[in-house]
Amino acid sequence: MAVRPVLTFPDESLKRTAEPVEAFDDALRRAVADLEETMRAGPAAVGIAAPQVGWGRRVVIIDASARPQWPNHGRLVLVNPEIVAWEGSVVGREGCLSVPDYTGNVVRAERLTLEAFDERGGPLRYEMEGFEARVAQHEIDHLNGLLFIDRVVSRRKDLFRRKVYR
Ligand code: NI
Repeated sequence: MAVRPVLTFPDESLKRTAEPVEAFDDALRRAVADLEETMRAGPAAVGIAAPQVGWGRRVVIIDASARPQWPNHGRLVLVNPEIVAWEGSVVGREGCLSVPDYTGNVVRAERLTLEAFDERGGPLRYEMEGFEARVAQHEIDHLNGLLFIDRVVSRRKDLFRRKVYR
């Protein structure tokens, strides 16, 4: 396993639409292991998407268990994820390993139903709400070439420079 470098804005490859995974093989599982190690190496990371390490496939890993006040399913590897139903909308603050200098206020669906496959091609279906639903939407955006800074209503009012701790 290996930690891979995380691409940061404005790297053009973060804007590309990722391709679906077709082979659920050992190469996929090795790449997922690298992706997870990269996520765990990041500061307070709760999710990562394959395009962030230059892997142009529809794979995300989320782990919302760091915020136990919200219901969550723990660590999930989601291959070819699709949001099939959603409701409500709520504003919340987001950050991203690929946008290290800013956080932003982003409107997301409050609840959703997500379908995906696991690393062996088995079908998955989850109901998510709150923080976990937000993380899933943020990571799936990466598969469609979108960053949270593309979703803020006003870059002037809704983007915040991160404080630098020395
Ligand atoms: Ni991100």
